Amino acid sequence: MKKIVVLFCFSAVCFSFNRTVNNFFGEGVYIPASHQRSGDSAKGYQYLVTGDYLKSGIPLNYFKLAFGKDNLNYLNRDSINANISYEYTAVKAANGEIVVAPNCLQCHAQAFDGKLVIGLGNTTIDFTGGEKLNPRNAAIAESFLKKASLKKYEAAEPFLKVVKKISAQLYTKVRGVNVADRLAALLAAHRDPETLRWSETPMMEVPDNVVPSDVPAWWLLKKKHGLFYNGFGRGDFGRFAMASNLLTVNDTAESAEVDQHFNDVLAYLKSIEAPKYPYLIDEKLAGQGGVLFIEHCSKCHGNGDGYPNLLIPEATIKTDSLLYKSNYQSPQFVNWFNNSWFARGDHPARLEPFNGYIAPPLDGIWITAPYFHNGSVPTLEGVLNSKARPKYWSRDFDRLRYDYENVGWEYTAHDKPNGKNIYDTDLPGYGNYGHYFGDKLTNKDRKAIIEYLKTL
Ligand code: HEC
Ligand code: HEC
Repeated sequence: MKKIVVLFCFSAVCFSFNRTVNNFFGEGVYIPASHQRSGDSAKGYQYLVTGDYLKSGIPLNYFKLAFGKDNLNYLNRDSINANISYEYTAVKAANGEIVVAPNCLQCHAQAFDGKLVIGLGNTTIDFTGGEKLNPRNAAIAESFLKKASLKKYEAAEPFLKVVKKISAQLYTKVRGVNVADRLAALLAAHRDPETLRWSETPMMEVPDNVVPSDVPAWWLLKKKHGLFYNGFGRGDFGRFAMASNLLTVNDTAESAEVDQHFNDVLAYLKSIEAPKYPYLIDEKLAGQGGVLFIEHCSKCHGNGDGYPNLLIPEATIKTDSLLYKSNYQSPQFVNWFNNSWFARGDHPARLEPFNGYIAPPLDGIWITAPYFHNGSVPTLEGVLNSKARPKYWSRDFDRLRYDYENVGWEYTAHDKPNGKNIYDTDLPGYGNYGHYFGDKLTNKDRKAIIEYLKTL
């Protein structure tokens, strides 16, 4: 049976056949494609880095005082934005006041070897409590602005009230992991699903635990039929891509206006190519690795342009279950979304939870360490050999170094956890177990597969 799968893996037919076989063994559940809007990627890029998808933020002069001036101008932006760090954008608030709002690149870009890589998840982000956007600072800014300038206060109010209310619930135990899933749940809890209007008291229960996640690379999007690690984002992807607008949105008229740009943003996200591995690759070894990859890995991850779009159930994948379970543990969140503005109109989106994770395409996998949905494994060597995964490990965030040999972050292993800079795989949601598919291979075979992965 297996041989037939490999034999037919040269054409698109392979995957429909492969699918049946996978379902037969209960290994993978196919995600069907949903219709997507088309758009203009150049316009989408402009909107992403200069657009007003958030229409409230910190008044410009206060932003400069608190965050300083940026001289790198990674994005080559002009006028006001030329001196604002890439992960913020100056925009005009409804009352004409200029405010600075966080943009998508807070989480979806990272400086790597001196260059900003757009679409690479930010694995240095720090949600452990040291950030400037905390409830205390928001309250100080609010009372100050009320006295200094009512117009500036008005422009900042939608942003500050949200920061004040929910930022204290967005803490993680270690640095480098993301809280976007919790942010989404909290914003939903404080907003009416139909009108999207803010409510100071939450309207549904949000579980206490902050489930950490990594950030998927944007260049994988063009292949995927379901968004997010558990593949539960279906329907119009633009609707999900614009969900950050929930941070400060006033009403659905504003959402509809922002939504009109997200066909272009999606076109841009789909145009991003995975960065190429920058050093020499041992072609012969990579060739051997490619054969092993087809035998052991491609039925889930795909190969070349063929990508099977499979959800892998918990019994097979065995990686930390907290992330996908949290979507079931809070069915109120799924119901909120599926009955909300996002699920309406001629290009609706919807959530379809699943107990397991999507097997992601592996394009540009060399640069996206740490690995798995929770970023618990620092190198590819560890992905392929569960015994080589460190239980407690740290990176030097001040001097980050990449390990091009084992492919991933250079790290230090520790005997025990100690504070926010050591990744602690004992914490709930931070587990580094599961995905044992490389364990049965020899060291030589694993080396060959890693060499092959560098070519993707
Ligand atoms: C606070 C950090 C953060 C911000 C800001 C943010 N994202 Fe994300 N984004 C994430 C994380 C984390 C995920 C993965 C969540 C998951 O799968 O559980 C994600 C997932 C996505 C996905 C799905 C990718 C996939 O392959 O499944 C898209 C598309 C996306 N974000 C687009 C955007 C856009 C566009 C913006 C700005 C309008 C944005 N994001 C702002 C953190 C963020
Ligand atoms: C039965 C399906 C299946 C097989 C076989 C499989 N994988 Fe995976 N793989 C997955 C799933 C599902 C994930 C996501 C797990 C998670 O994030 O918790 C994953 C994650 C990964 C990741 C990390 C991706 C990231 O962005 O963090 C790498 C690298 C990887 N697999 C490589 C391989 C290689 C190499 C092989 C062959 C030796 C292989 N896989 C075999 C299903 C599979």
